[in-house]
Parts: sequence; C-alpha cells; structure tokens
Amino acid sequence: MSKIKYFSENLEVQNKTIILRLDLNVPLNEKIIQDKSRISISLPFIKNLIKKKAKIIIVSHLGRPKGKRNNELSLAPIYKFLKEQLETNVYFFMGDINDETKSKFSYLKEGEVILLENIRFFDGENNNDDNFAKKLASLGDIYINDAFSCSHRKQASIHKITKYIKESYAGPLLKKEVVAINAIIQNKKGPVTCIIGGSKISTKINVITNLIKKVDNIIVVGAMANNFLIFKGFIVGKSLVEKNSKEIIDKIYEEAKKYNCNIFIPNDCSVSSEFKGSGKIKEPDSIDKEEIILDIGPKTIKKIGSIIDQSNTVLWNGPAGYFENKNFSIGTLAIAKKISENTAGKSLISILGGGDTISAINKSENKFVFTHLSTAGGAFLEFLEGKDLPGLNVLK
Ligand code: 3PG
Repeated sequence: MSKIKYFSENLEVQNKTIILRLDLNVPLNEKIIQDKSRISISLPFIKNLIKKKAKIIIVSHLGRPKGKRNNELSLAPIYKFLKEQLETNVYFFMGDINDETKSKFSYLKEGEVILLENIRFFDGENNNDDNFAKKLASLGDIYINDAFSCSHRKQASIHKITKYIKESYAGPLLKKEVVAINAIIQNKKGPVTCIIGGSKISTKINVITNLIKKVDNIIVVGAMANNFLIFKGFIVGKSLVEKNSKEIIDKIYEEAKKYNCNIFIPNDCSVSSEFKGSGKIKEPDSIDKEEIILDIGPKTIKKIGSIIDQSNTVLWNGPAGYFENKNFSIGTLAIAKKISENTAGKSLISILGGGDTISAINKSENKFVFTHLSTAGGAFLEFLEGKDLPGLNVLK
C-alpha cells in the first residue's frame, strides 16, 4: 500500500505559494467563536510556514452553506482571530475564484497570509468540480492538506485540487491524527466499546453498521438515541428526531444480532420544556408531550460507567446531551471523567473525536486524560471503520 506524502521540514518553501487546507470550522454564536481549539492547533504550522517565508493561502469551510453565500457562515470572525495571532500581514479575500484571482494576489509577500472566504460558498467546491479545482490549484505552487477532519469529503479543496497542482502533501496535524489512530487500531484490546452521540442517525448509519462488525458494544446517546426510544415504542415529546429512521434502526439491530454486538440506549433522561431550562429526570415511558430530552440520566450514566469499566478500548464520538447548557452537560462530562480515570489508572485505550465532543470537554474545568483526542468527527469514524478516505488517497 502506498504511503501518504507528508510535508517535510526540508521542503524548500521560501517564496513559494502554499495552498493550505485547514479545518477552521469552529462553533460560532452571533459571530463569536465559542471554541478556538481547531484554530489554535493550526497556528504552529502556519507560523512555521511564515518563518520559512512561504506565501500562504489558507482555505477552509465553515458549516454547510451548500454553494450559497451566507453572512452567518462567513469566515470573518476567524480572520479577525488569525490576524490577532499572527505577527504578519493577514488578508481576507471575499471575491470569486476565477481566472483573474491569481493576479489579484500579486501583493502577497513572503511570510504573509491570505485567508479565503468560506470555500463552501462555491458550488464547485461542493461538487468536486474539475474546473473549480483547477482554478483553485492555479493560485499556488504547493498544496498542503492539514485538515484530517475534512478528508472524508470528496470536495475540490480536499480532493480534485491535487490533480492540478504539482506537489501535494499532508500537514503535521493530519500526520499526527493518522499515526495516532492507526496505532490505536493496531493495538486495540477487547472488549471494545464505541459510544456514538450527535443528532443525525442517517449520516452515521454506515459507520454504525460497519462498526458493529468490529466492536463488542455500541452505546447510543445524544439526540440520536431519541430515534431508538421511538423505535422501542416510547413517546419523546418535542425531542429532536429524524423522520423515517425505523428501517435504519431495524438494520442496526439485525446486524448487531448477526455479529454479536450489544447495543445500549439510555434508560433514563434529563428533560425540559426549553433548551435554556434546567433538567428533570424521567424514565422514557413518562415523557410529556411538551418535553425535550436534553441529556442522559443518572441510571444511564451508571450503566455506561460499568460498560467502560469492562472495556479495554473505548472509541467515542458525539456528546450525550445539549452540552451548550451546563445543566445538560452532566452526561457528557460523566462519560469523559470515567474514560479519563480508566485511561490514567487502568490503561484503558481511549480515543475521542468530533468538534462537539471536544468543545464539550474544553468547556469543563476538569483536566482529562485520553490516549488520543481527534479534532475530526465524520472523518475519524470513517477512518476507524477502515475506509479509504478520498482526501488521504490523493496524497499517496
Ligand atoms: C467537521 O466538523 O467534522 C469537519 O469540519 C467536516 O465538516 P462536514 O461534516 O460539514 O464536512
């Protein structure tokens, strides 16, 4: 199997224009960055390239604007933060990517940075369009993908761009993720437990059905679990649910039986009639029609704790509740605490992924210990499944 080409410190980049694909997809609230982790971990490499006197064009997406400009998803707040952090000229380019763009960048000097506006404002990005990829590639001499978390996407700035640029490499953050996750996959010890949260079951169905074949337990938490509760005949009030999930869940249970994998869903929850409220603990059979499930309850926390105690490897993606409100971050933090204690004290192999999971953990004042913390969500899960990620394949 061919290997990924990694960026090397010996690579001559002075006066070369580097197209640097980063994942600066951070949570925003009224244009204020809620968690800067993804930007902060990208800074050392940007600074390294500045020191080496490269000309740097940073490309990132924010959210899923589906090819349309959307002020709410502008990278402007991220630009402001980068400008504060980098001791060089940093520019923000909000124009189109076309044949004239390159000449517009002639002002860029060695060690300076241009951040392009949200690349997903362009249809060509989302469609992995050849023409768009070619224009994007024409802006630089070298392409570096340092966004492991986006490498499962077949999109122009991740995939097709490599076809039109002479040199393409993986950056240091991407390398760190691949090396760490690979080491864990190779060294993982059973029983293996996978905790999956988040809201959309349809986006994780393939991952779940594939993981069923490889792990001993799957614990479903977060809004995704609401669909399982409905499947079991419970009424979940105004909780977030996805339409037509019955068939998907049927398939999950069928596969789980076939491969001897246990599926666990919450057996109590914390509910409220509003997201801002505080929680009331309820069993799934007593939820009122005005109530929303916003976290797991104490019995579920205890059950998850005992499954973690019986596991030697734990993979976790997606928070257990609406962690943005501290009243509903109890489940997520209890899981984090248990995994952390067992990682430190019982040599549990633990690997966590996903922007939301990391945000939830960062919001806590506790210091947690994990074997590896991945910034990636979907990419992390697909990589664990053993899939070939399109963004990595093109770097081989
Ligand atoms: C993520 O948050 O996992 C990455 O930024 C990828 O985002 P996407 O799922 O919208 O492609």
